[in-house]
Amino acid sequence: MNCVAMNTTAVNEQYSLVNSTILGSSKIRAFLSVEVVSDGAVFRAHYKMASPSISTVSISSIASYGPQAGLRSEHKSSALGFNAAKFLKCFSGLKAAASVNLESDASFLGRESNAALLASSIPKVQQSQRASNQFQPQASFKVAVLGAAGGIGQPLALLIKMSPLVSALHLYDIANVKGVAADLSHCNTPSQVLDFTGPLELANCLKGVDVVVIPAGVPRKPGMTRDDLFNINANIVKSLVEAVADNAPNAFIHIISNPVNSTVPIAAEVLKQKGVYDPKKLFGVTTLDVVRANTFVAQQKNLKLVDVDVPVIGGHAGITILPLLSKTRPSVTFTDEEVEQLTVRIQNAGTEVVEAKAGAGSATLSMAYAAARFVESSLRALDGDGEVYECSFVQSELTELPFFASRVELGKKGVEAVISADLHRLTEYEAKALEALKPELKASIEKGVAFVEKRAAVAAN
Ligand SMILES: NC(=O)c1ccc[n+]([C@@H]2O[C@H](COP(=O)([O-])OP(=O)(O)OC[C@H]3O[C@@H](n4cnc5c(N)ncnc54)[C@H](O)[C@@H]3O)[C@@H](O)[C@H]2O)c1
Repeated sequence: MNCVAMNTTAVNEQYSLVNSTILGSSKIRAFLSVEVVSDGAVFRAHYKMASPSISTVSISSIASYGPQAGLRSEHKSSALGFNAAKFLKCFSGLKAAASVNLESDASFLGRESNAALLASSIPKVQQSQRASNQFQPQASFKVAVLGAAGGIGQPLALLIKMSPLVSALHLYDIANVKGVAADLSHCNTPSQVLDFTGPLELANCLKGVDVVVIPAGVPRKPGMTRDDLFNINANIVKSLVEAVADNAPNAFIHIISNPVNSTVPIAAEVLKQKGVYDPKKLFGVTTLDVVRANTFVAQQKNLKLVDVDVPVIGGHAGITILPLLSKTRPSVTFTDEEVEQLTVRIQNAGTEVVEAKAGAGSATLSMAYAAARFVESSLRALDGDGEVYECSFVQSELTELPFFASRVELGKKGVEAVISADLHRLTEYEAKALEALKPELKASIEKGVAFVEKRAAVAAN
């Protein structure tokens, strides 16, 4: 997701801007690498910028390298102007409630990997000249993936490995995770990769982690509904969340294992039984529904993908998935037929993939992408970034249902706010669909709660 933007017109006469790269960005910070050429020599600076709203970046000290590096080892002072806000528009991955919302996220190829790539292509003498201008590693968060050897787990682990915010990546599975970790550990990004196999190593995997992502379980096969998965995945999620409660009670928990409408309530009940339930830190990952909605709407309406943002509310199965097309940003109109066709496609997009894979599993790559985006948003929130918004299935008071997916604001302590604005002024179609989804979602939530209560009753006797 590394982007090179060319903008020679904005540069003063003395210098030509040849390459500017966003190494990582957020709503409040941007990390830039800028190259300029003067008299045949190339100058490069790494820059940390406080706010994307600043329209001009001034580079006051840049190290030289290139053909004349030996001759020009002094640092130069120069002012270089370009429109930073314009650059950042195509990089912010955050979902801001009140501003344009963007998908693309530079930080999956973070500034550390970028720095490493730069280092490997620049002679050593020149590297030392750059040293004072290089970024200090900012990676500081530990992330655990439980079910890391699976179809989702592997690409998800790769994407998390690319995050500049991650210092340790703990990969757990009941089998085959050693090879995944060995393979990933060769990527020259900052995080250290450790593998953990089987229940005896689970506690060590979880100690001290900030975010636990759970894609462990069985995927849907053709002809299977999400409910068919219930008994297998309910047991897996229950036992994994018990271990999280014992070893990482303060971590953000991201549940991917289906049926999310039930596995999240299961996780909540387990955490309650353990006395460590914090509803602000338990998330059902529904990001894939948003990712799909954005993609399909952009295709249908011929819009630039990075500009499109469709909130998706309700739950994460069939008709409980409710894309609010009337709240699409940028504002766009749909015919009744388009609303019906798009809504149904978004609700059944998982089945599209299951059938196309013909027995070889369900959505894994798009799911890994979506889950990595949610992890990245969580890490940014933990890191203190403001205005981090994502849709997620969380404990909620927006409706009479105890859990509900909606846009939430993420902060250091988890859910800072559940955003109600999207549910105002629904179209007639959306209002009806919302009422129609409630009985099914309620039943799925109750099924999850009942599962844990029954297990507790059995254990007590
Ligand atoms: N939330 C979503 O949008 C979404 C989308 C797609 C799939 N899913 C769900 O994600 C889950 C995983 O899908 P997949 O395609 O990666 O399946 P997969 O079978 O390829 O991988 C699952 C992994 O979980 C591991 N596992 C099983 N039991 C475990 C346990 N007790 N502890 C740790 N690991 C365990 C397996 O060894 C395997 O490596 C499924 O439940 C699937 O339905 C969710």
